[in-house]
Amino acid sequence: MFASLLRSPTLIADNSHRRNISRSSGWRRRVQIQAVISSGDNKSITTSPLDNKLETNGSVPRGGSKDSQVIKVKAVVTIRKKMKSNMVEDNLEYLINGVGHGIQINLISQHIDPATSCGKSVQSNVRGWLPKPSKIPYIVEYSADFTVPTDFGRPAAILITNLHAKEFHLLQIILHGFIDGPIFFPANTWIHSRNDNPLSRIIFNNQAYLPSQTPPGIKDLRREDLLSIRGGGTPQESERKSHDRIYDYATYNDLGNPDKDEKLARPLLGDHDRPYPRRCRTGRPPTRSDPMCESRIEKPHPIYVPRDETFEEIKQDTFSAGRLKALFHNLIPSLAATLSKSDIPFKCFSEIDKLYIDGVTLKDEEQRGIVENLLVGKVMKQVLSAGQRLLKYEIPAVIKGDKFSWLRDNEFARQALAGVNPVNIELLKEFPIYSKLDPAVYGPPESAITKELLEQELGGMSFEKAMEEKRLFIIDYHDMLLPFIKKMNSLHGRKAYASRTILFNTKTGVLRPIAIELSLPQMPSSPRNKRVYTQGHDGTTHWIWKLAKAHVCSNDAGIHQLVNHWLRTHACMEPYIIATHRQLSSMHPIYKLLHPHMRYTLEINALARQNLINGGGIIEASFSPGKYAMELSSAAYKNLWRFDMESLPADLIRRGMAVEDPSMPCGVKLVIDDYPYAADGLLIWSAIKEWVESYVQHFYSESDSIVTDVELQGWWSEIKFKGHYDKRNEPWWPKLDTKEDLSSILTTMIWVASGQHAAINFGQYPFGGYVPNRPTLMRKLMPQESDSDYEKFIQNPQLFFLSSLPTQLQATKVMAVQDTLSTHSPDEEYLGQVNHMHNHWINDHEILKLFSKFSDRLEEIEEIINARNKDTSLKSRTGAGVPPYELLLPLSGPGVTGRGIPNSISI
Ligand SMILES: [Fe+2]
Repeated sequence: MFASLLRSPTLIADNSHRRNISRSSGWRRRVQIQAVISSGDNKSITTSPLDNKLETNGSVPRGGSKDSQVIKVKAVVTIRKKMKSNMVEDNLEYLINGVGHGIQINLISQHIDPATSCGKSVQSNVRGWLPKPSKIPYIVEYSADFTVPTDFGRPAAILITNLHAKEFHLLQIILHGFIDGPIFFPANTWIHSRNDNPLSRIIFNNQAYLPSQTPPGIKDLRREDLLSIRGGGTPQESERKSHDRIYDYATYNDLGNPDKDEKLARPLLGDHDRPYPRRCRTGRPPTRSDPMCESRIEKPHPIYVPRDETFEEIKQDTFSAGRLKALFHNLIPSLAATLSKSDIPFKCFSEIDKLYIDGVTLKDEEQRGIVENLLVGKVMKQVLSAGQRLLKYEIPAVIKGDKFSWLRDNEFARQALAGVNPVNIELLKEFPIYSKLDPAVYGPPESAITKELLEQELGGMSFEKAMEEKRLFIIDYHDMLLPFIKKMNSLHGRKAYASRTILFNTKTGVLRPIAIELSLPQMPSSPRNKRVYTQGHDGTTHWIWKLAKAHVCSNDAGIHQLVNHWLRTHACMEPYIIATHRQLSSMHPIYKLLHPHMRYTLEINALARQNLINGGGIIEASFSPGKYAMELSSAAYKNLWRFDMESLPADLIRRGMAVEDPSMPCGVKLVIDDYPYAADGLLIWSAIKEWVESYVQHFYSESDSIVTDVELQGWWSEIKFKGHYDKRNEPWWPKLDTKEDLSSILTTMIWVASGQHAAINFGQYPFGGYVPNRPTLMRKLMPQESDSDYEKFIQNPQLFFLSSLPTQLQATKVMAVQDTLSTHSPDEEYLGQVNHMHNHWINDHEILKLFSKFSDRLEEIEEIINARNKDTSLKSRTGAGVPPYELLLPLSGPGVTGRGIPNSISI
């Protein structure tokens, strides 16, 4: 019904199926709607009926009565300034355009106009762009005065048409003058120019409504807005334009670039063989070489994401997006130019130390100009000197207090509980250990780790007792990696194993690794494809043990990045976000709940597809799996990922790291109490759960209200059947029939976007910034006596160790990426916080009180975690040189802080 109002007057005449707005001229005669630039007061004024004179500056409300009283209403329109715009030029442009047009605003009532069977409407043009001064420097406010009849009812939506040539960023509109106080229309959205899209934008007020509760006057608008977001009327295959706000799905068929080089061809991810979550559709044409492959768009041109998903320009100079782009466009090429001719291994540990003391000297003169504009944070310090530029790295937290901690076994084990990848350790539940891989391909399934061998490392405890007391744990990468090892090791400079590590929780409460099994695929030339290593006490075995641990760490770094970080947080969130926009109206309470947790994720994922995970990108160049990296990620999605196990308690129980215990706050008891990620994570999890349950209870009081919510059911259905299409037939998808079902699903999603991502993401530089602690790849196999260079290892084991690690260029590249990915931007929004510009996100005092309770609980959790970090009985987070576990502290300042839980995955 509102289709006519969504089109600007000059462009709808030829659209016969939509009502021509010019017909409204009849009702323009009755009430004056005056829109002027004004700084008048906000008082509610009742005036006498207006005369019947036709006003050129506005229209009348439909349904307005000739004899009705009117009220004066002021609309305050808040717009965010562009950081890099030319204000003089823009103001001139606005003025020129504004003389006749400006912006057009329609207020839509929640009540139906009987004459038209749609919401009552008043319309006006705001002319000119002379801003009112604002207290906040980066915003400008405009105001427009309306006069509406008293029987108009409460405005529930605004249609806004931008008649200027340029888009603008609308933060909010506030209507003053109604008797029950101001009415807020939160927007935070880009309003496209009519030149780009003739449809008006629909902005709803901040009242949350389930679909069945939608006021009659805006029912049609609710539907029309969703249709527009789904791309209604736009061919699915058409290429998206930057001003579009269309959310749709596509497979990962854009990682390769076969048109550029056949070596850069990569298989499609998102089919039966290589399942994967869906990403946001861009509609780019296929490549010439492969019709199934989407053509690439390379830096500096951006990949399409819906307009409101792009990073804000505000504070661009220190903004994470700007830094990320600078990293890809300037720093990495500059590092490569500086080091490529001498891409050699580190020869001694002091060369690594020099990165923090002296820095890397970037000598490439051509790079100087752009590098001087490089946006760096606290960690990568740059110092200008004549003709040269220094890139200095900050000392990573893992070696800040104790330079040699990484060498210790207990530190290796501590990082499995409190490091950047604390989600792969499992209780050893069964013994012997068997592979689930096909024995016909991969050989006998039994592990080479024996009970006798383990018993030698248990300090006198029997193996049975250690199992009974749940003291044995495993980090098992065997089945995930072995199918890829042959291919990985065929790549230049890559030598990896599939590892298993057994850890023992001693009676003193200290976890330590006691055995490492390194496996290669079975080949006739190497029948002993599985070797088991234990801690050595002589010079040779000591260094062998160090090398075995380094191989485990490089397995861990790859699985962390490709599975736990990229797949399980970034990639799996993307379909939830697309479905939320497509299926839930912005007035839906669940949309409002999820909105802060979707910020910037599509944009950061698009940047990653362009620069990080693409064929020939930084991940391939820096991590062991090389060009097979994303295939490995797909295999993990195929074999391991399940939505119901992404809940923290369920994941801990699956891994045997917790047992069900109804007496505990989250219903689980940890097997290792001193497990910082899990202990702090359960606090955050339970706070989110309590907030979500109270929120859901508030909006879904009726027993059948979940199953009758058509938008909600469409949302969940689309997540399963479109967003995670390749997993659509899995039996483990939770049902969505009850409030409990909904709360559980939402708690999992919010946890993944906030706490889980923070725990997995922001420790990347603090732990990975020291290459020996966490090499992203290994370049040599373990030394064996039969090898020709075994003698070199015996003569100089340190050099052998260092030459097994990433080269200087590989290491410095990864350090630069990890630094940027570990950085909080200055405009980060943390869990429990609301941006001050979004204070009016919902018109519901009860919900605001519940949110305040959630924020208070997070403050308490901050104190609890701080106290834990001072408890000397917790050896995983205290002790000489041991960094505290802060990754799940809710708040942080900007930069690389190793703490802070942003609401969403934004880096
Ligand atoms: Fe991330």
